Amino acid sequence: MRKADYLFNQIYDYVVNRIELGEWREDEKLPSIRKLAVDFDVHRLTVLKAYQLLKQENRIYSKDKSGYYVQSGERENLENPIVSAYVQKNHLSEIHKVPVSYQFSQALIDPNLLPNRYISDYVKKVFDLYPKVLSTYSTVQGDEELRQSLSDYFNQHYQTITNPDQLLITAGSQQAIHLIAQAFVKARDTILLERPSYSSAIDVFRAQGANIVTVDIHPFGYDLEQIEFIMKEHKPRLFYLNPTFHNPTGYTVPAEQRKQLVQLAEQYRCLLIEDDAYYDIYFDQEPPPPMYTYDTSGMVIYIKSFCKYISPGLRIAFLMNSQPSVMKSLLSVKSLVDNGSPLLNQKIFLHYYSSSRLQQHVEKLRIALQIRKEIMEEELSATDWQWTSPNGGLNLWVRLPNQLSTDDLLAKSLEHSISFVPGQICDPLKEPSSWLRLSYSFANEEQISVGTRKFIDLVHSSL
Ligand SMILES: Cc1ncc(COP(=O)(O)O)c(C=O)c1O
Repeated sequence: MRKADYLFNQIYDYVVNRIELGEWREDEKLPSIRKLAVDFDVHRLTVLKAYQLLKQENRIYSKDKSGYYVQSGERENLENPIVSAYVQKNHLSEIHKVPVSYQFSQALIDPNLLPNRYISDYVKKVFDLYPKVLSTYSTVQGDEELRQSLSDYFNQHYQTITNPDQLLITAGSQQAIHLIAQAFVKARDTILLERPSYSSAIDVFRAQGANIVTVDIHPFGYDLEQIEFIMKEHKPRLFYLNPTFHNPTGYTVPAEQRKQLVQLAEQYRCLLIEDDAYYDIYFDQEPPPPMYTYDTSGMVIYIKSFCKYISPGLRIAFLMNSQPSVMKSLLSVKSLVDNGSPLLNQKIFLHYYSSSRLQQHVEKLRIALQIRKEIMEEELSATDWQWTSPNGGLNLWVRLPNQLSTDDLLAKSLEHSISFVPGQICDPLKEPSSWLRLSYSFANEEQISVGTRKFIDLVHSSL
């Protein structure tokens, strides 16, 4: 993407987000072209171009000599609502709305592989142990017994010295990312993202109006010189990263780079937001320890979710950081958002988490997912498409022949009841690309085999 296009998109997104978040209301006057150009440090023509497009799209209107205003009422309906909503906003949830027989777009685990029955055993136990569980709030920071149990596990497993005061229980890791963005990112702050990146995190930081700078992630990790250059020149507030079985690529950053990155973060005072949703879903050997374990000065905010592999419905995740001032800021946002996660969910989770069933479940799950991955790869081996086989996680990141538009392919494959995630959705710069993400974790073995073959036929017929 050319720099001019990139700046244009930033302004366009900034205005759309302010309107959609309700910060700028119907018939309210927009900032003048001159002001926005100064705020974003761009040419006035760039702002004018963005305003003109928004006007054409009926999102804003102009009054002679007075400026631009937020349009009222419904916007016109688009012909193919799912694909156009995705193309316009690049929201993953638009794709997931379509019911399909071959579900390769959701990085979620097949409910048949999750321990639903065992978790429900603990529900009765929790009501017996804590008869007042439904008539009490949790503390904003989260149930102390649960935080103790999570920090004990972390300390035993990685020889760290974390304490429960350094943990905050959140409603999934999505909420953790959101709290961090609310607490530490203001409009036009520069932040660093991997390219590609987890699309809903991109959405959170864009909605906050952040100025996004990117660094590529490769099968071997990052170019640390490039990261150092960015940290020196752009001084990002934070770097949001997903270094273990990265979504969408499945890549894992090696141990040596993890250590060096923490040193760079300390040197340039850049918070590292380590999103570790997939660490436990490994196939052969355990991945290198989280970056958090190398952190000595509180520059890493570590996020771990149990939604992927234990229970999405309980929405339990936590974030962890050793600086009391960081925790204080996050706690004040969490108290504004929901005043603490539901106590019942935390207690049910605690009892399952502390049981020996957890380990048995995770070991079986790793085998089941590895088999599904291998089935999908076996089918794909009949093509000349490229991918790097991941050692864990839920996705294959696949490159199709260059000449294909993944938008057209998405529309066509949804018609054939197959879903996938176009690479563009995972790109913070939103460039068209021939990459796509196929998740092998939700469909069963038969569906993976048949669906992948159908998908290959569809691609071949589109060439
Ligand atoms: C990297 C990453 N982070 C966070 C999330 C959000 O997960 P949850 O809010 O269910 O914990 C996801 C979900 O796909 C993810 O892939």
